[in-house]
Amino acid sequence: MDGSPRAAITATGSAVPSKVMTNADFEAFLDTSDEWITKRTGIKERRLAAEDETTATLATEAAEKALAQAGIQPEELDLILCGTISPDLPFPATACFVQKALRAKNVAAMDVSAACSGFIYALSIGSQFIETGRYQKILVIGADVLSRFADFTDRSSCILFGDAAGAVVLQPTSQADKGLLYSVLHADGEGWDYIHVPAGGTKTPTSAQTIEQGLHFVKMRGRDVYKFAVEKMQWLLGDCMEKCNLTPDDVDLVVPHQVNIRIIESAAAKYDFPMDKVYVNIDRFGNTSGASIPLALDEAIRTGRVAPGATVLLVAFGAGLTWAGAVVKL
Ligand code: ACO
Repeated sequence: MDGSPRAAITATGSAVPSKVMTNADFEAFLDTSDEWITKRTGIKERRLAAEDETTATLATEAAEKALAQAGIQPEELDLILCGTISPDLPFPATACFVQKALRAKNVAAMDVSAACSGFIYALSIGSQFIETGRYQKILVIGADVLSRFADFTDRSSCILFGDAAGAVVLQPTSQADKGLLYSVLHADGEGWDYIHVPAGGTKTPTSAQTIEQGLHFVKMRGRDVYKFAVEKMQWLLGDCMEKCNLTPDDVDLVVPHQVNIRIIESAAAKYDFPMDKVYVNIDRFGNTSGASIPLALDEAIRTGRVAPGATVLLVAFGAGLTWAGAVVKL
């Protein structure tokens, strides 16, 4: 290192709604089955936000747990970043609602819109402020409540999503070989329509007609997303290991975006990663978009699956299209 500080993850937290929706629950109103969903996606159940739960309330709960673990008071925070594509309102930023709920003073707050890659994007942005010495205590959140944008008549997409939030605290460390060692961020807007919500923005404002046509719901080209996700997950794993001079043996845990167990398994197989080195909780939470990685990371740490000193690869891909990876030494 050249003497500038590196950003270390000093605490994690997560929050999920208490309401469980199982695959069998979908069978009651959709032409689907537990068997199909389990076999094609690996999902058994997901959590859905109650009426009084929003992206900001889940994000705040995750943030409070991370702050408590770090022993940091909200007023000590310099910056709150929230990776989300399902904000409480089109504006202001959900990060501002989190700031208000935490009663964090003297803090900057903004959302990062990069879909399922949003947490890694936010982690990378936050780390820049630490590395330049500008900020000392940063809250990085990934939170989404995509159930509010899911079309519960579309069996190919609504079964995928769950609601959740995850948060980490970033602080400077002068310890060599600790913290965020590498990150890579990419985007390709040519694939904007792979996963998108057609109406509600300046291109197609909400109207009675857009609502009648269901244009306020997620539209997805599932097969195309699948191919894109396999390709990018493989590329990200290779790039992260190459840039940090790592082999699969050096990696303690891969925390992939929980998109589909088949996508995760095929990318892991390319590098002969045994599945016990790959964190999977898609069976219990489904695809929680921006929350997916910090939720899985928090679980992996709290359950002792990884300990301080572990080398962890984070890889994600999502709407945009966006894809992002990071190598973190805990
Ligand atoms: N239950 C039963 N049958 C279904 C269901 C369902 N829930 N959904 C689709 N099918 C049917 C289709 O209608 C199709 O039937 P047909 O052959 O009679 O036309 C058949 O199953 C096969 O459909 P495919 O789309 O080819 O199935 P596939 O194996 O690709 O699985 C899936 C679909 C699960 C959506 C998969 O493509 C996938 O996971 N893609 C990635 C999607 C994703 O993760 N998107 C979000 C990521 S980005 C973000 O998070 C913002």
